[in-house]
Amino acid sequence: MGNYQGLKKEETRNEYGKDIHYTSWPVGKIPKEFQRPELDQVRELGYDWDDPRDVVDMFEDKVAKFAGSKYACSVDCCSNGLFLAMKYLNAEGTITIPKRTYASPPMQIIHAGCKLKFEDREWSGVYKLEPYNIWDGATAWTKGMYVGDDAIQVVSFQIKKRIPIGRGGMILTDSKETYDWLKYATYDGRNLREYYMDDEFAMIGWHMYMTPEDAARGIILMDSVPEVNEDTGGSSTYSDLSDREVFKPHLEKETGFKV
Ligand SMILES: Cc1ncc(COP(=O)(O)O)c(C=O)c1O
Repeated sequence: MGNYQGLKKEETRNEYGKDIHYTSWPVGKIPKEFQRPELDQVRELGYDWDDPRDVVDMFEDKVAKFAGSKYACSVDCCSNGLFLAMKYLNAEGTITIPKRTYASPPMQIIHAGCKLKFEDREWSGVYKLEPYNIWDGATAWTKGMYVGDDAIQVVSFQIKKRIPIGRGGMILTDSKETYDWLKYATYDGRNLREYYMDDEFAMIGWHMYMTPEDAARGIILMDSVPEVNEDTGGSSTYSDLSDREVFKPHLEKETGFKV
């Protein structure tokens, strides 16, 4: 596994002054009693890592294999994963979703600059943000859950989900290009394999990354949760959002013809 600061431990970069050392954040910096326990716990379970960010890579690989997608990009929650998927595809116009879902996906559609249409659609585990090949998969966690067909499918690790890290998500994709863009987008445009001081930053990114400790918790939970599970939500478990005042200014206008 790579050394994410591009330096060996204790190596100094003279051109930046001798105060700048390799810092494998946060291990080694925070007194043991202040550190979260998950990185040690995951090591005790037999997972080997050098840099804490290796654990994020390991969690991504593990989720991709489990889901049946080629890649999985970690993110700080499913809501932000859906938002980034829409930004990646330059989504515009109207996006149609089921009227019975959680409140944040329609809010992310609005934040991404799109109009919203609610429809009466039955769903369980996953649903599509029509017409885009983006799927809200917050309530699905079962082996082989990736819908395939080049979809961008977003998983949630919110506390009521099967893998209850508390906060977190994973963006499943079969495209390396999509994965690479999302990786930069979730972490301030940074290339985590380059020394920070040298990084040119690939884009104006967002600050929506997963911490190594949360990834370690995800690995621990995955190893203790059954592989096959019923969905934790669907059209029968959410209230109807279509009559909520807050969304009304953002609904597609009903003209009866295309304008
Ligand atoms: C259907 C659905 N979509 C999206 C989300 C948002 O997930 P997160 O809390 O990870 O952003 C949830 C979370 O409860 C959900 O149930």
